[in-house]
Amino acid sequence: MLLKIFPLIFLFASVIISQEHSLITNIEAHKTFSLNGNWQFIIDPYENGYYNYRYEPADNGYFKNQKPENKWDLIEYDFDKSETLKVPGDWNTQKEKLLLYEGTIWYKKDFDLSRLLPDYQALTPTRRLFVHFGAVNYKAVVYLNGVKLGEHEGGFTPFNFEITNLVKEKDNFLIVKVDNKRSREFVPTLNTDWYNYGGLTRDVNLVEVPSAYIKDYFIQLSKGSDKNISGWIMLDGNQKNQEIKIKIPEIQSGNTFTTNDSGYSNFSFNAEVELWSPEKPKLYDVIIESETDTVKEKIGFRRIEVNGPDILLNGKKIFLKGISAHEEAPLRGGRANTKEDAKKILDWVKELNGNFIRLAHYPHNENIVRLADEMGVFIWSEIPVYWTILWKNEKTFLNAKNQLTEMITRDKNRASIILWSVSNETPLSDERLSFLKKLNEQARFLDSTRLITAALENHYVNKNTIIIDDPFGEYLDVIGLNEYLGWYDGLPDKIDKINYQTKYNKPVIISEFGADALQGFHGDSLTRWTEEYQANVYEHQINLMRRIPNLCGMTPWILADFRSPRRNLPGIQDHWNRKGLISNLGIKKKAFYILQKFYSVYLLR
Ligand code: GCU
Repeated sequence: MLLKIFPLIFLFASVIISQEHSLITNIEAHKTFSLNGNWQFIIDPYENGYYNYRYEPADNGYFKNQKPENKWDLIEYDFDKSETLKVPGDWNTQKEKLLLYEGTIWYKKDFDLSRLLPDYQALTPTRRLFVHFGAVNYKAVVYLNGVKLGEHEGGFTPFNFEITNLVKEKDNFLIVKVDNKRSREFVPTLNTDWYNYGGLTRDVNLVEVPSAYIKDYFIQLSKGSDKNISGWIMLDGNQKNQEIKIKIPEIQSGNTFTTNDSGYSNFSFNAEVELWSPEKPKLYDVIIESETDTVKEKIGFRRIEVNGPDILLNGKKIFLKGISAHEEAPLRGGRANTKEDAKKILDWVKELNGNFIRLAHYPHNENIVRLADEMGVFIWSEIPVYWTILWKNEKTFLNAKNQLTEMITRDKNRASIILWSVSNETPLSDERLSFLKKLNEQARFLDSTRLITAALENHYVNKNTIIIDDPFGEYLDVIGLNEYLGWYDGLPDKIDKINYQTKYNKPVIISEFGADALQGFHGDSLTRWTEEYQANVYEHQINLMRRIPNLCGMTPWILADFRSPRRNLPGIQDHWNRKGLISNLGIKKKAFYILQKFYSVYLLR
């Protein structure tokens, strides 16, 4: 039952968005060739491979991969005689000497296109080739065969460059200058409570597409509707005006429409879909067909809204039984990046009787958001606008805006993601407020179907009363609040004396509370760092949760211990934040069972 389309004004904004972006959505729907594996690397703390001795960018830097052509040639590096690092992966946990390394490392990967793509000859003009990076922390400069493809800043979002006219049949060398040095104007800025894992931390792929291909699309239930599916499609390439078919074979529903001169079209059509929920994470195969390309996608359709102090899923009030998590690989440590890592983390959430995970404090890899769609786990996804960002710096703002845009571009078709968070624990100021308001506007501009939140901080009105009145709360759909009563703020019994008030008739999520405990360290419930102290804090915090106004969810800090260079207590922390309910070796602490029990009995008010 294919219906003609009616363009919708409110989606008009999307035209602007896709033009701003070169990111290919859902690369797995296209032909991909993995470049994962061993890459040679050169550690270059003085960036000698990039700058000459006058500290000017050099023409013949390491990106040229030069080889001596005769016995007197002076070349002072050789990738092929260098060690290798595994990609995807952070460099810190692969080499002892790189554990605390922050600086530049050059990566090189050789590939023969003829081996990967036997009929590559026919590549142009009918097909194109891109190189896609899942994420590179922090700054990447990418070169193919000695030619610069481009740069990317931000350690947790994907990017790609076209190589169609640069790639050769054989002996291609892809070189990436990766620099994870921290800096005041970056996002995040200098200080974070997580490890600055550097490297090609996620998958690297070659992506082959037709000369005119389906670059980006947004397909979701329209705001406030259970039946109307709407969105947009963006083609890229030499044939912009095309007939497009969207098909949902399982329910024989779909739509045919035509893209305009910029390859864009929006659409809307009605369909009888079974709505996605954690109890029933129903996903549909959705096929998008253009005259020159076809992409398949698994999409769940659900409605997420607020109604005064409540969060509604498909019109029904929900409670988000959650936990926060860093992208620390379970059991082995380092940046998580595999499907198995994602499965382990989400299995732990399920074991906690949870239905919600806060992916802190940056977009995690695509494996975990796609798996959450399948397993039925709600997601809070966040950009690392964390602590004291340089609010007045325009470059810092554009960087944050770009990371937000890339996060939403990659994951906007994921039913599991219900909240976009634009900041964590940022100090009040007018500059901060205007910075965050602009991010909030950008998020709503990109995606009108989800809720916008941020993790705000406590504000005492008197000794025992805390009010939620951060001015940024005015602009949010859901208020996130971090509080460390019983750990940074008093002892556990103080929690019982505290009353919360809120200025806003809006849902509240306690996005962090917790306490450190070294797994296996036992003592009485007031001895810090013991499992008993952590359990004591959880007992009191859970009672407090029952007294928080408008509470619609919680994501205690944190699912598992994670590395942090700020944590230096010998024999206890040793560069690990120990607030996990599970140790870095995967052993559960007492507090895990307290939260598990609370979530198994928690009933909506
Ligand atoms: C903060 C912060 C976290 C940090 C945690 C802690 O609230 O948001 O990133 O790890 O507290 O101190 O353990």
